[in-house]
Amino acid sequence: MGRYECTPTSFLGIMFFFCFCPMVLSLLSQNQTETMTNLSKYFSFPVPWNDPNPCAWKGVTCDNTNSSVVGISLSGFSLSSPDFLPVVCKIETLEHLDVSNNLLSSIPDGFTTECGKIKGLKLLNFSSNKLEGALPTFNGFDGLETLDMSFNQLRGRIGSELDGLVSLKSLNLSFNNFTGSLPTKLGKSMVLEWLVLSNNHFDGKIPDELLTYENLTGIDLKANELSQSIPSNIGKLSKLETLILSSNKLIGEIPASLLDLTNLSRFAANQNHFTGPVPPGITKYLTSLDLSFNQLSGTIPEDLLSPSNLQVVDLSNNQLSGSLPTKVSPSLFRLRFGSNQLSGNIPSDGFATVQNLTYLELDDNELNGSIPAGLGSCRNLTLLNLAQNHLSGELPPQLGDLGNLHVLQLQLNKLNGTIPTKIGQLKKLITLNLSSNSLSGSIPSEITSLSSLTLLYLQSNKLNGSVPTHISSLTVLIELQLGQNQLSGVIPKMPLKLQVSLNLSSNLFSGPIPRGFGSLAGLEILDLSNNKFSGQLPDDLTAMSALTHLYLSNNQLSGELPKFSQNVQVDFRGTNLRNTTAEHNQLPYTASKKGISVTLAILIAIVAAIFLVGLVTVLFVSISRHYYRVNDEHLQPAEDHHHPQVVQSNVLTPNGIHRSSIDFSKAMEAVALTSNVTLKTRFSTYYKAVMPSGSIYFVKKLNWSDKILPVGSHDKFGKELEMLAKLNNSNVMTPLAYVLSTDTAYILYEFISNGSLFDVLHGSMGSSLDWASRYSIAVGIAQGLSFLHGCSSSPILLLDLSSKSIMLKSLKEPLVGDIEHYKVIDPSRSTGNFSAVAGSVGYIPPEYAYTMTVTMAGNVYSFGVILLELLIGKPAVTEGTELVKWVLRNSANHDYILDFNVSRTSQAVRNQMLAIVKIALLCVNASPETRPKMKSVLRMLLNAR
Ligand SMILES: *[C@@H]1O[C@H](CO)[C@@H](O)[C@H](O)[C@H]1NC(C)=O
Ligand SMILES: *[C@@H]1O[C@H](CO)[C@@H](O)[C@H](O)[C@H]1NC(C)=O
Ligand SMILES: *[C@@H]1O[C@H](CO)[C@@H](O)[C@H](O)[C@H]1NC(C)=O
Ligand SMILES: *[C@@H]1O[C@H](CO)[C@@H](O)[C@H](O)[C@H]1NC(C)=O
Ligand SMILES: *[C@@H]1O[C@H](CO)[C@@H](O)[C@H](O)[C@H]1NC(C)=O
Repeated sequence: MGRYECTPTSFLGIMFFFCFCPMVLSLLSQNQTETMTNLSKYFSFPVPWNDPNPCAWKGVTCDNTNSSVVGISLSGFSLSSPDFLPVVCKIETLEHLDVSNNLLSSIPDGFTTECGKIKGLKLLNFSSNKLEGALPTFNGFDGLETLDMSFNQLRGRIGSELDGLVSLKSLNLSFNNFTGSLPTKLGKSMVLEWLVLSNNHFDGKIPDELLTYENLTGIDLKANELSQSIPSNIGKLSKLETLILSSNKLIGEIPASLLDLTNLSRFAANQNHFTGPVPPGITKYLTSLDLSFNQLSGTIPEDLLSPSNLQVVDLSNNQLSGSLPTKVSPSLFRLRFGSNQLSGNIPSDGFATVQNLTYLELDDNELNGSIPAGLGSCRNLTLLNLAQNHLSGELPPQLGDLGNLHVLQLQLNKLNGTIPTKIGQLKKLITLNLSSNSLSGSIPSEITSLSSLTLLYLQSNKLNGSVPTHISSLTVLIELQLGQNQLSGVIPKMPLKLQVSLNLSSNLFSGPIPRGFGSLAGLEILDLSNNKFSGQLPDDLTAMSALTHLYLSNNQLSGELPKFSQNVQVDFRGTNLRNTTAEHNQLPYTASKKGISVTLAILIAIVAAIFLVGLVTVLFVSISRHYYRVNDEHLQPAEDHHHPQVVQSNVLTPNGIHRSSIDFSKAMEAVALTSNVTLKTRFSTYYKAVMPSGSIYFVKKLNWSDKILPVGSHDKFGKELEMLAKLNNSNVMTPLAYVLSTDTAYILYEFISNGSLFDVLHGSMGSSLDWASRYSIAVGIAQGLSFLHGCSSSPILLLDLSSKSIMLKSLKEPLVGDIEHYKVIDPSRSTGNFSAVAGSVGYIPPEYAYTMTVTMAGNVYSFGVILLELLIGKPAVTEGTELVKWVLRNSANHDYILDFNVSRTSQAVRNQMLAIVKIALLCVNASPETRPKMKSVLRMLLNAR
């Protein structure tokens, strides 16, 4: 470990000591001053410990007379050697020690024996380190009240290692790899109040012994493998306020004894296998209840929603039937009853008085009757999802009063009448889905004032008249679905940001196809099929540079088919168009490779999606019920250890060496073993696979959940990868081959032995990254990103750009990875908020919270964060806050924030680093418009050389 070597510190210290500082030093004993000085020699801080009074040092707390040190916090100091720990124990007055967010991999015995003698030590925080092996045995520590060892790699069973902690009140062992049954020896004197054991591999039942800790106020056992039922005498824990049992394998009924817990405020038991009814009265004292994704049946108790403190209720994805409760508490904030078998009406004024209601999801039930006008008075509603029911009648105009609405989903009902003009008042609306109803009349022109609208689905209705003239004022619209209506008339200028799809199929449009589509430079799918278009094609259709599919079939078109780029597939069946250029990708199209025709599969998927939306949605819902497990922190489905069932595999690279080395069955063997996992990012797991030839490859498994994967895109996937495989840039990681299985996809890449930038920079090799390497990495990433952003067909954006998605070919050569996510994962389908999906904490630009789209400016922000990581040497979340915020808080003197191990090498290095801090700060500007484009970032970086 690098020590702090600038000498003025000790020199100044001595000066103070001898001249006028006895006054200051007399406060802290000479022993403690000396110990603290000894301690400081173990570290090199960005902000050095150099004040003569240790009480003024960052992270050091003294008692209120400054006569003794009582707290030391070394959180986020990138410490990897634990040698300093026994020295800390010389501070006999220590009460709090926080060494969280470091890289410690062990706790020396000297620490447990020495610190165990400190009677006053109340808190130990080892959270977020790299501790390995078994839990240490704690002897002594008579006063220890709080022990936090969460987010480490501790493993094995827990016996009586903690039983000697007679004062233990709060224990957190979450996010480790502990196995066996839940520990029950948690301090002989039984004073435990908070127990957090979530995200481990504990199995077996919830032991009765746990119920003897009568002081427990909080229990979190989420994400383990617990089985059997909840002990029926759980009501004994009368002080319980929080009980979280989510994501286990618990069975049986929800015990009625929970009703005895008058202080229980939050109860979550979602994602288990509970059966039986929702016990009446369960919400009497609760503020939050989550029983989603179980097999609960019966009716919803009439009084469920009425208790006055109730804020959140989630019973979605069960088998509940009967009608909705009519009495609703005014404090209710979020209600989810989706995917049950509920019937009857939506109570006409039940929700009218619920001023706090922000999320209301009743989708995928059997509700009938009309949408009550009273919903219009829930002014805080942000999301209203009533899709897939049997709702009929007209859309109440009062919905236009919901000025905070972001998402309105009413598709797959039997709604009729016209679309009310007041809908134009929903200025914050991002998604509007009224598809698959029986709406008639024309599309109101007021719809064009929905300035935030990104997705507009009006297909499969009975809408007539023409498309609103000013539809192009929907400047952020990326998908427009108007198919299967009775629309006609002039096709106006379309919104220029359209990207996913523009669908005008199966309407009554006639006359020549107008010019103007050529300016839709980002549009990928244009469907004009099944209309009465006639005449020749406008010549600007070929100018659509991102186009992949053009559907013209069943129209009265004639003349010659212009020459499209080879990426475009044109379906002109049922027209009189003549194809003169032989190599055209006309449909039906037979893939030259073995296996089924990819294009045909896409076509079938699209046709199915249009004509059988109902069926597909049912399918989609059942698939997602199967794979998707709602968990706010963890979107990744459980690892499967069986061999995946391969549907299709394909080698993409033209490189002969790879083509002969890649062996798909070896690749599939590799992913069946968790011991081959070398790396995990948010959406992918990388496995190491050794081929029979001896060459090594990465097999990357996409951890997608169906909620965020567009329907039908399993088929589209191969095509997208083929395009990505053609990218040729030395800083972009391109796919070599892929395997599609029934439920996921695997992509093969060249093996990168160094791993990710995150691992190198924040791991033991961090100090070997000198400035030349870091600068070269920064420039390389910028080069890769500006290449991807400037891709001629359409820009390729990064969904989750972070130092974990950058691989290091060598210590100077970065590769931008995970480039396919943007094409195959659709975050807008996530049930959580968008920013929770698009990106990793610390890298997400602030605007994603409301724009809900991934942008180039967003990528620039994430790049800025990576630059800061390289400059400061700290991870993107540091000392519990985002690095960007940390920098802004400490920005008075940039010199101090630089990674001192690097900046101290020379004045020239320091100057260059300071210049690049300025570039990083431009990139992370809060306002996306003012951030520079990737190209100019690259230029600035090169100029800073
Ligand atoms: C100072 O430290 C020494 C050895 O570490 C110890 O013997 C002595 O008792 C300490 N003095 C005080 C006042 O704590
Ligand atoms: C500080 O370190 C020196 C040298 O290792 C050692 O002799 C001394 O006892 C230490 N002082 C305290 C208070 O631990
Ligand atoms: C204790 O030390 C801190 C840091 O130097 C200083 O801000 C504070 O005023 C001191 N308190 C007393 C009582 O001397
Ligand atoms: C331990 O540190 C982590 C990270 O700094 C923090 O989030 C957590 O709240 C701390 N635990 C306790 C019990 O203070
Ligand atoms: C419930 O909480 C209240 C307020 O915090 C407290 O006074 C009361 O003792 C608690 N009841 C039980 C049974 O612990």
